[in-house]
Amino acid sequence: MFGSKKILQALSGKAFDIPPVWMMRQAGRYLPEYRATRAKAGDFLSLCYNPELAAEVTLQPIKRFQFDAAIIFADILLIPQALGADLWFVEGEGPRLSTINSTEDLLKLRSPDAIHEVLNPIYETVKLVSRELPKDTALIGFAGAPWTVATYMIAGKGTPDQKPAHELMSKDLKTFESLINLLTKVTIEYLSMQIKAGAEVIKIFDSWAGSLKADQFVRYSLEPIKEIIAALKTRHPNIPIIAFPRQANKQYIGFAKNTGANCIAIDNSITPSWARKYLQVDGCVQGNLDPRHMVTGGVKLVEETKKIISAFSGGPHIFNLGHGITPDANPDHVQLMIDTIRG
Ligand code: CP3
Repeated sequence: MFGSKKILQALSGKAFDIPPVWMMRQAGRYLPEYRATRAKAGDFLSLCYNPELAAEVTLQPIKRFQFDAAIIFADILLIPQALGADLWFVEGEGPRLSTINSTEDLLKLRSPDAIHEVLNPIYETVKLVSRELPKDTALIGFAGAPWTVATYMIAGKGTPDQKPAHELMSKDLKTFESLINLLTKVTIEYLSMQIKAGAEVIKIFDSWAGSLKADQFVRYSLEPIKEIIAALKTRHPNIPIIAFPRQANKQYIGFAKNTGANCIAIDNSITPSWARKYLQVDGCVQGNLDPRHMVTGGVKLVEETKKIISAFSGGPHIFNLGHGITPDANPDHVQLMIDTIRG
């Protein structure tokens, strides 16, 4: 048993009539109070590196909706930045990074031990939030999985098909694998520091796992995540871990068991009844309302929410969206989802 907070019990395998709930990207631009704090910080990255303001936005959705968990306000791309890559965000477009395409590029990165100098403010945010959190709310720390972070480092931006990363894999496997190994190593250290600072659950986001097929999926999504989990479990045996190999499709089957994760998070491309049959047999499942319902609301939102709860009832389940809530979402619809869940 991981602890008595509701989400920790679900992660230990307990079923609830009313499942614990939180939302990916719950602190974000759909909230007016987030937009105000972000304006005070100046921009997104300044907000990430300002522990007082980052703690404030982490707690905003908890105050408004009483979610069962808070997720620390940061980004998966802070790791590349801590390794020495340039990182900036283009308004309305997304992240941009200096690129890694050769052994020479890799050699320009800082040593893994140097990451904490840059990432210290994140550990500070974790400490601040864990002090201020309501006693029944759990704190989630997170990182991107090596493959997903590598896709951004190789392309220098988000890509629909992760083509540059696939190309590097086929043209220069040595550089590609060195990058995956480096990211695996630093991710273990980064998450371990978050746990020491007060994170009670860890989530690993492999947002682009879906573009890895067969063997590649095992080598570059499953194996690195398994290695990260094994190292964290050795150092911190009581910390539950949620894995999110987004759009893994049939490869979701057995993923939790084979990586040692305590929970598998699913996107909305798979049905709850399928997930109940093939995934919940191995333990807790997190998901998977389509984030579009947070924009459209209404009876469809209520129906779909009830359908998900009923499909997973009787087994361990954490209610969440299938992906992050979008900036055009309506906070009233989030409240409607919460009211439907909690009856
Ligand atoms: O969930 C939370 O509330 C915690 C914070 C969090 C952010 N990013 C804040 C953020 C988390 C867990 C992430 C994870 C993340 N970041 C992922 C994995 C999850 C996923 O969405 O698949 C990825 C791929 C990133 C990289 C990233 N960060 C992109 C592609 C973008 C731009 C797209 C967008 O939504 O604008 C970001 C920016 C970002 N990260 C924002 C937030 C709140 C928006 C920044 C802003 O305020 O302008």
